[in-house]
Amino acid sequence: MSASGKGHARHDTALIHSLTSSEVQSLSEACIEAKRKAYCPYSHFRVGCSVLLNNGSIVQGANVENAAYPVGTCAERVTIATAVVSGAKKGDIRAVAVATDISPPASPCGMCRQFMREFCELSMPVLMYDKDGKLVVLTLEQLLPMSFGPEKLLTTEELQIGLSQ
Ligand code: THU
Repeated sequence: MSASGKGHARHDTALIHSLTSSEVQSLSEACIEAKRKAYCPYSHFRVGCSVLLNNGSIVQGANVENAAYPVGTCAERVTIATAVVSGAKKGDIRAVAVATDISPPASPCGMCRQFMREFCELSMPVLMYDKDGKLVVLTLEQLLPMSFGPEKLLTTEELQIGLSQ
């Protein structure tokens, strides 16, 4: 029982998603700090992201914009791609955290949700921090219901059967 008598510590929502209080603390510090890395001269909308890997390490990233606007990349994709090229495999990502300067907190855009779907479990928690560090947590499945993922594609065998018909 916590001091408040409610039975849960401060980060109870995240603990439900099997993250410890100290993991949540590290994720929040890392994504809030990562806002400083944002390259956003066009929108001035800073987004910081952090990703917790199975080995306990944390990868940081931020949004990187471009004079040709659609070329800009969101913080979530920059961070997950960095984790992937650093060796993270599918299922290695335990949580994604995002921080912005607005309230209520921003949630990942549709493209980023699909990008996560490639590498993360549907049960993975996405931690969203507002301008004051207040947290909202949803799973990837809650953010992207009835999603399309790599396992939906045909296997090599199924493709060969299809081609021979
Ligand atoms: N942005 C992100 O980095 N993540 C999101 O989930 C939403 C939007 C960035 C893209 C662009 O650099 C700026 O925020 C404004 O859209």
